[in-house]
Amino acid sequence: MDSKLSREPRRNLQTRATESNSTQWWARRLIFGVALSAGLVFLNYPLQSSYAVCSPSRNIYTVDDTAPRVECIAVRNARIARVGSYDEVVRPQRYFEGNNFFPRWLVDRLAVVRYTMVIYLHEDAILVPGLADAHAHVIENGYMNQLPLMGAASVQEVVDRIKTYIATHSDTLNEPSRWIEGMGWDQTKWPGAQFPTAADLATDPLLKGRLISLSRVDGHARWVSPAVLELMPNLPEQVEGGLIVRDAEGNPTGVFVDNAMDLIPIPPWSEKQITEFFDMTMKQALSYGLTSIHDADTKPAHIAFFQKLADAGKLPNRLYLMGNNGSAEYWGDTLPKLVDYGKHARLNLRSVKLIADGALGSWGAALLEPYSDDLATSGLMLSSPEKLERQIRRFWADGWQTNVHCIGDRANHVILDIYERILAGGGRNVTESRPRIEHAQIFTPADLVRIGKLGVIASVQPTHATSDMGYAQIRLGPDRIKGAYAYQTLLKASPQGVLPLGSDFPIEGVNPLLGFYAATSRLYVDGTSPHGLEGWFSEQKLTRAQALKGMTLDAAYASFAEHDLGSLTPGKKADFVVFDKDIMTVPYDKILEAKVVATVIDGEVAYGTL
Ligand SMILES: *[C@@H]1O[C@H](CO)[C@@H](O)[C@H](O)[C@H]1NC(C)=O
Ligand SMILES: *[C@@H]1O[C@H](CO)[C@@H](O)[C@H](O)[C@H]1NC(C)=O
Ligand SMILES: [Zn+2]
Repeated sequence: MDSKLSREPRRNLQTRATESNSTQWWARRLIFGVALSAGLVFLNYPLQSSYAVCSPSRNIYTVDDTAPRVECIAVRNARIARVGSYDEVVRPQRYFEGNNFFPRWLVDRLAVVRYTMVIYLHEDAILVPGLADAHAHVIENGYMNQLPLMGAASVQEVVDRIKTYIATHSDTLNEPSRWIEGMGWDQTKWPGAQFPTAADLATDPLLKGRLISLSRVDGHARWVSPAVLELMPNLPEQVEGGLIVRDAEGNPTGVFVDNAMDLIPIPPWSEKQITEFFDMTMKQALSYGLTSIHDADTKPAHIAFFQKLADAGKLPNRLYLMGNNGSAEYWGDTLPKLVDYGKHARLNLRSVKLIADGALGSWGAALLEPYSDDLATSGLMLSSPEKLERQIRRFWADGWQTNVHCIGDRANHVILDIYERILAGGGRNVTESRPRIEHAQIFTPADLVRIGKLGVIASVQPTHATSDMGYAQIRLGPDRIKGAYAYQTLLKASPQGVLPLGSDFPIEGVNPLLGFYAATSRLYVDGTSPHGLEGWFSEQKLTRAQALKGMTLDAAYASFAEHDLGSLTPGKKADFVVFDKDIMTVPYDKILEAKVVATVIDGEVAYGTL
């Protein structure tokens, strides 16, 4: 630094000051003060990111124990700058404390202009940290939305929806060789509850001869048309970790479960399709207050797609990817590791998804004892325990977080065994590696204790509990069911006190309030349950504070982001949501009526208006 330059003007000023009379000196000081305050206001404007939001009813829920409910937050440069009362946040005299240059009355005025705006929320409104979905499928959700089969009450209704789809999509209508893909059917909702057959998709003249592939609601089975079966003349007898459903003569009926789905020759989606699917999901997610999504099975092609968007600064939302190359062996070295990647640092890839078993709805969840409603089967491990352990060890050694899909008590038992052995072997401890179990649905009583002892993160989806509560006990029997969907037990057991919540959309709805409602009420959306108005196994309900934390800070912890996300704490990124109703206090039946007023990411409104 050139000390001569910096000292010179000051000497001049001093010389002149001694030469001036005191009136001139005061005038100068006043002009300088006005110029400085104008400068402060001016500086704030181009940043467009300095503002305060206040709730006169103190309905700002911070998910920060040091100040759980406050009146105001201030945002500066895309981060939370201050949190507290109006006096603490908006009029921070302390900012000028020890500086006697400005008179007190001017300090008061200046304090207000620190923020280009002070926004006041409606008295019924509520502000919470940006919501995360700790387990969802971003691209697949858009895919499902093109031909949604959710809620179809019969095979005929599925056929009718496909007919409407064909009639309203001229490209498909005019091009009979085009693949038709849909998702969401659930035979447990139909008369007879039997798997459908390929023939069901060829009775209608509009459907006959078309290539149709329809994913089951849980994504663990596909139902195809006869034209698709014709493309697969040489099917293997058996598929490891999968099932080709066959009739009494041994002919495939058109339903392929788990790994057998890979036999269906569906052409890969084009970039245009992927873009459409992505845009559709983002639009929905932002409108429901989601600022962060853990994508629970990201294929290499989709990783490349997200990376391109992140480079261009076009990710509207934070994405935490669980990479899955689909290969049966180790593939950690084929994926890029991304930490706060892209123009807005919104993309992360440091975890992988592995799959231990199937799902309960298709009797695919791996159980230690046979199903109570089908003594001939105990479900399926999709991969052998030895292979899973080999893979998990390699991923840990290379610094990956491993997130393993486990539904049945056998799958959970096997994975806890593996995690226990690896953790006992030294190396990275549980805080550094943060191993997760996705779904964490059915546990033996001993494993409910063990998952806590180990500190393994249970990543659960409360809407699965309410979607399954109509049949789960029939599948599992009166004893095993007590260790299923045991959210309060899992949370209590967690040494970090975390239970990240997700939806698994498109298997369930995108709206996180559905999960909030399910977790806190354990009721169907119509307010009933198999156990009445108190909710299904009501002792497993989460409190609203626990549920909100599960959708914010716990999800952040499960993605190594608790220092940056998940609570309204000074220094963290300014992600938050304003709802028009106080979901923390309204009666259960009003929770789902709450609407998002604004979704804010990095301090900027991404949906609605502040
Ligand atoms: C998946 O991983 C395998 C190694 O197990 C590698 O050979 C293959 O190229 C990878 N596929 C993709 C699409 O990256
Ligand atoms: C885990 O390891 C880190 C780094 O070695 C250490 O700081 C931390 O205290 C350890 N945590 C536990 C729970 O052992
Ligand atoms: Zn999933």
